[in-house]
Amino acid sequence: MDIIDSNLKSFYFPSQEREAKMKPLSPNRRPHLLTSYLLTLSFIIFVAVLHGEDFIYILCHPLVHHPGGQQQQQLVSNNKEKDHEVATFAIGENEEGCDIFQGEWIYDDKWRPMYAEEECPYIQPQLTCQAHGRPDNGYQHWRWKPHGCSLPSFNATLMLEMLRGKRLMFVGDSLNRGQFVSMVCLLHRVIPESAKSMETNDSLTVFKAKDYNASIEFYWAPFLVESNSDDAVVHRVTDRIVRVKSIYKHAQHWKGADILVFNTYLWWMNGGKMKIMQGSFHDELKNITEIKREDAYSLALQSMLRWVEENMDPHKTRVFFATMSPSHWRSKDWGDEEEGNCYNQTTPIKDPSYWSPGTSKSMMRVLKNVFSTSRVPMTLLNITQLSEYRKDAHTQIYKQQWGPIPPEKLADPKSYADCVHWCLPGLQDTWNELLYAKLFFP
Ligand SMILES: *[C@@H]1O[C@H](CO)[C@@H](O)[C@H](O)[C@H]1NC(C)=O
Ligand SMILES: *[C@@H]1O[C@H](CO)[C@@H](O)[C@H](O)[C@H]1NC(C)=O
Ligand SMILES: *[C@@H]1O[C@H](CO)[C@@H](O)[C@H](O)[C@H]1NC(C)=O
Ligand SMILES: *[C@@H]1O[C@H](CO)[C@@H](O)[C@H](O)[C@H]1NC(C)=O
Ligand SMILES: *[C@@H]1O[C@H](CO)[C@@H](O)[C@H](O)[C@H]1NC(C)=O
Ligand SMILES: *[C@@H]1O[C@H](CO)[C@@H](O)[C@H](O)[C@H]1NC(C)=O
Repeated sequence: MDIIDSNLKSFYFPSQEREAKMKPLSPNRRPHLLTSYLLTLSFIIFVAVLHGEDFIYILCHPLVHHPGGQQQQQLVSNNKEKDHEVATFAIGENEEGCDIFQGEWIYDDKWRPMYAEEECPYIQPQLTCQAHGRPDNGYQHWRWKPHGCSLPSFNATLMLEMLRGKRLMFVGDSLNRGQFVSMVCLLHRVIPESAKSMETNDSLTVFKAKDYNASIEFYWAPFLVESNSDDAVVHRVTDRIVRVKSIYKHAQHWKGADILVFNTYLWWMNGGKMKIMQGSFHDELKNITEIKREDAYSLALQSMLRWVEENMDPHKTRVFFATMSPSHWRSKDWGDEEEGNCYNQTTPIKDPSYWSPGTSKSMMRVLKNVFSTSRVPMTLLNITQLSEYRKDAHTQIYKQQWGPIPPEKLADPKSYADCVHWCLPGLQDTWNELLYAKLFFP
């Protein structure tokens, strides 16, 4: 159970400096059962003492599926499981106690970016910032450095070897599409022109590396569950309605994927309530009710999780969930001028505790609660905090706009800036480095 695990560990080893490399995996890593149980237990007690509050939160917060008293047991058994099973695709292991999501941005002119914008033909015009006149390029040169270890360096050939005969699939919204495209950009350079293809059919986009019989795919499902925003091209933006229990319509297309990377958040952030529907969109009399956004989010995530439990074999596959991608709409949040937003921002935020008031902590708590009930390993890509710092990395006005911009807006560029999506190359390449690290060095 990665979520709880990585959080506890980060309290356990607060920003300890360690050797900057990943340990190779010893072939026979099977610690004795009792020893590992005792170690885990004492570890938990130690952490509880160290960080009482969070521990109490984890223990006492009502879980969705398990009745109260079983939670401590569950924590223990999840950790035990992790000690004993080597995750699918693992070729090494993370430096012990290093939480790769906690760290800092280092300016690195030499190794970043990992590819040039014009060298990757797959980036959609909404993300090619240089081609749309962005005057600065510093945002491409930041490298993520976790406290206490270094990320393994991304090896495209190795990744393709590992994906031989396999399907890696991203499922979610436009931010997840950005991560998918970043992954394609990171991999395509080592594949000759004649041995790759990219095709879109409706909600599904598939990049193929033919010599490897590998595919990297993106499936559009902004709520994961069925909704009235499901059309891949003309999404309905206003008056969103979701069917929180209906997963199969989309999930039938995920079946057979070897690695799944989910995200969903942005589309839920449209007021405190969410319209949910029982029955089908084709019913004549529609039964639509409004419930709290957090409750709707929780129900949808549970639907996804139950599907994963029934359809993904933990011995052969891996499942990831990327936490919320933050936006930067108000420069006064980071102590800048009153009126600004991400427009004209060229450097990351330095305050390590920065968290935008617009990024919902209650939605994060829902993630924590729901995934703590998971009966299968679900690895969290907790990219929220590290992305919070990157006010400089959004597409701003340097992108293909959806329509003509009225003259009064043109006169004030920040009024039509996009402070949600991210330029490529850029921040989302780091999300993939983190995915790479969690996949091969868990
Ligand atoms: C990348 O991986 C390939 C295949 O495993 C290996 O041959 C190559 O040496 C690696 N490259 C680097 C720079 O480590
Ligand atoms: C190619 O990969 C798919 C899975 O994506 C698999 O079902 C199929 O058997 C593979 N074909 C060959 C020739 O290896
Ligand atoms: C697109 O996908 C649908 C199934 O989802 C399939 O029936 C159809 O043949 C596909 N079209 C193309 C052009 O591949
Ligand atoms: C409408 O859905 C709610 C649950 O959201 C349910 O309690 C209610 O019975 C349903 N009404 C009808 C007429 O089906
Ligand atoms: C953008 O920032 C530069 C300095 O970094 C400043 O001179 C310029 O006025 C700013 N432009 C706007 C529109 O805020
Ligand atoms: C993700 O990390 C942040 C801190 O960086 C933490 O507050 C949050 O609880 C984590 N989310 C989950 C679901 O563990």
